[in-house]
Amino acid sequence: RKDLLGLRQLTPEEINLVLDTAVPMKEIIGRKIKKTPTLRGRSMVTLFYENSTRTRTSFDLAAKFLSADTVGLSASSSSVAKGESLRDTGLTLTAMGVDVVVLRHPASGAAEYLARCIPAAVINAGDGTHEHPTQALLDMFAIREKKGSFAGLKVAIVGDILHSRVARSNIWGLTKMGAEVRVVGPATLLPAEIEQMGARVYTELDAALEGVDVVNVLRIQLERQQQGLFPSIREYSRLFGINQRRLERTAPDALILHPGPMNRGVEIDPQVAYGSRSVITEQVTNGVAVRMALLYLLTGGEHSAISN
Ligand code: CP
Repeated sequence: RKDLLGLRQLTPEEINLVLDTAVPMKEIIGRKIKKTPTLRGRSMVTLFYENSTRTRTSFDLAAKFLSADTVGLSASSSSVAKGESLRDTGLTLTAMGVDVVVLRHPASGAAEYLARCIPAAVINAGDGTHEHPTQALLDMFAIREKKGSFAGLKVAIVGDILHSRVARSNIWGLTKMGAEVRVVGPATLLPAEIEQMGARVYTELDAALEGVDVVNVLRIQLERQQQGLFPSIREYSRLFGINQRRLERTAPDALILHPGPMNRGVEIDPQVAYGSRSVITEQVTNGVAVRMALLYLLTGGEHSAISN
C-alpha cells in the first residue's frame, strides 16, 4: 500500500502486521538512547488543519526515533491561510522531496483526496468524522498487549459516536479482528449508519457495559456540536459518565481507554482515568510505537536496523 487512509480498507493480516511491527518499536521507546538509523534519508511532513497534541507530537517523535527528517506545517501558519488548496499544498511538499505526508483535516475524505493527488505516502491523522486509523491501531495495540487477542472480546465504545472518527476506525478494526463492539450514547449522538458497520447499538449505559472486557470512553466533542450538547453536560455526565460504580457491570479486569484529550469529570471520572484499570497513559506510548511501525512499513525501511 502507498497510504494509510482508514481501517475499513485494511485486512486482518495487515492490521496484525502493523501491530506485530510495533512491538519491537515499543522496545526502542523504552531505551535510554532511542534513535535507530532505520529511516535515515526519508522525510515526513505533518500537515495539520486542526489542533493536536498526541497525534502530531507522536508522529514527529516516531520519525525522529527512526532518524527520518521531519517538518511540521499548520494551516494557520502556512500559505493555506492565503487560500492555497490542499492539492497545491501537497504538490508543493512533494516537489521538495517529501516521502510521507501525515494529514489532519476537518473534511471527511480529505486524506483520500490528497492521496490521489500526490505520489508521496499519505497517512490519515483524522479526517472529519470519517476515520482516525492510527488512533484505532494504538487502541488495538493496547488491547492485544493486555488481553492477548481480539477474538470473542467485548468492547464498549461510549459517548459522542456521531462526531467520532476514533469510534468509526475502532469499529472497522475490532470487528474485523473478531471482537464484539458495542456503542452507547445518547440517541442524539448515535448515527444510523453505525449498526451497518457491524456494531451493536445501545442507549442504556448499564446494559452496554454488562460483562465487557474493554471500555473505550470518547471525548464529548463540544467544538463539533452544531446546536450545543443535547442532553446538557450535566445530564450527559449523569447518564453516560464513566465512574467506579458504572464499572461494577464490566468484567473485573476490564481495561479503560480514552483517546484524549479528556474532559475529566464529564465523560470520565478522575478516579477511573487514573485508576488501576486505565491504560490511557500507555495508549500515548503505544501511539509512538504504532506510528513508528507505520512509517517503517510505508517507506520500506531496513528490517535489520530495528534490532540494532
Ligand atoms: N487522540 C488524539 O487524536 O489526540 P490529539 O487531538 O491530541 O492528537
